[in-house]
Amino acid sequence: MIVRSVRMEGFRNYLDETVELSPGINVITGENAQGKTNFLEAVYLLSCGRGFRTRLDSELLAFGSDYTKVTGKVFSAEREQSIEISMRSGTRKQILVNGVRKNSSDLSEILRVVLFCPDDLNMIKDGAKARRRFMDMAISQLRPSYAALISEYTRLYEHKKRILSDWREKPSLLDTLDEFSDSLSRCSAQIIRYRAAFARRLTETAVPIHSEFSGNGETLSLDYQTVGTVTDSFAAASEIYAELLEHQKAHREAEIASGNVLSGVHKDDLDIGINGVNARVFASQGQTRTAALSLKMAEREISLEDTNDCPILLLDDVLSELDAKRQEFVLNRIGGGQTLITCCENGQLRERTGGKIIGIAGGKTIRL
Ligand SMILES: Nc1ncnc2c1ncn2[C@@H]1O[C@H](COP(=O)(O)OP(=O)(O)O)[C@@H](O)[C@H]1O
Ligand SMILES: [Mg+2]
Repeated sequence: MIVRSVRMEGFRNYLDETVELSPGINVITGENAQGKTNFLEAVYLLSCGRGFRTRLDSELLAFGSDYTKVTGKVFSAEREQSIEISMRSGTRKQILVNGVRKNSSDLSEILRVVLFCPDDLNMIKDGAKARRRFMDMAISQLRPSYAALISEYTRLYEHKKRILSDWREKPSLLDTLDEFSDSLSRCSAQIIRYRAAFARRLTETAVPIHSEFSGNGETLSLDYQTVGTVTDSFAAASEIYAELLEHQKAHREAEIASGNVLSGVHKDDLDIGINGVNARVFASQGQTRTAALSLKMAEREISLEDTNDCPILLLDDVLSELDAKRQEFVLNRIGGGQTLITCCENGQLRERTGGKIIGIAGGKTIRL
């Protein structure tokens, strides 16, 4: 898939600007706070209907504006297509694909991206939430049914949490507790199978990338951790479900006493090790960057293998932080698909990539 052009109207600091892209590497360059990351966010929006630095969609509207529209011309599934996302404050956003109304979850069929931004370094160093998010985003782009399972899980979880926090005021709420625990276990069993399969493929793909990328043959390891009673996360969903129910039962009293949901896949983690020690605790800054980037490159390769189409790689401010050898490695490895790289510096990196250079200043493209 290739993004040919993106038009941003009233989007962040862009009043009305169209950026034309090359099918290979595009280097987006400019001073700080000019709109480089905002532009990547517009491309990201086209792939999933949300920004990656927003809590609320309304943050994407240009200051003082009550309307925004982002239009992408995309080559995908062997034809030219258009994606148009518009929002007016106070109303639901509208998504049109080739002029037909769609949902956010339909977008990944036409445009998939793999984003790597400085926040992704948290994936190694932060708590399990960041790693679950990484798995969930990656699997959702490939399997829309997984995205639906996650929203179903979230809905059930929120409901069960409310029962556990409010039952003292309204004891009858407890009547439905077991029903919710049961539904959560059913849903969890399927989520576990997806996550286990993804973790296995990620290991197969990321370990060799990381070994080469680290330059000194470091060994990356990944270990998917889920609910303690699950003996085999690849087993049939019915088997996993039975084991989950056991865990639910064992924690029932504690859940009621604490008011918290203690059993379920909302506590899953993906343990990341480097040379046999926990990366979260021991990885240096350089190791953190190398490991995170290896995982993202692996995500891109898995998506390519799975769909026969290469997702767009968005690299925000990361390449310029690498030494020349590692930059070289990344640039060689990404050959083939379309890549958008933002950077501040003017010299080396721009020349080394051999890509199209796009200058950005004050929310406009400029001639360099
Ligand atoms: N909703 C918005 N409306 C107008 N300007 C915005 C909006 N959101 C962010 N900005 C502005 O965009 C600029 C930052 O753009 P960004 O793309 O992050 O810069 P960089 O080029 O450093 O990546 C800041 O000046 C910020 O004030
Ligand atoms: Mg930026």
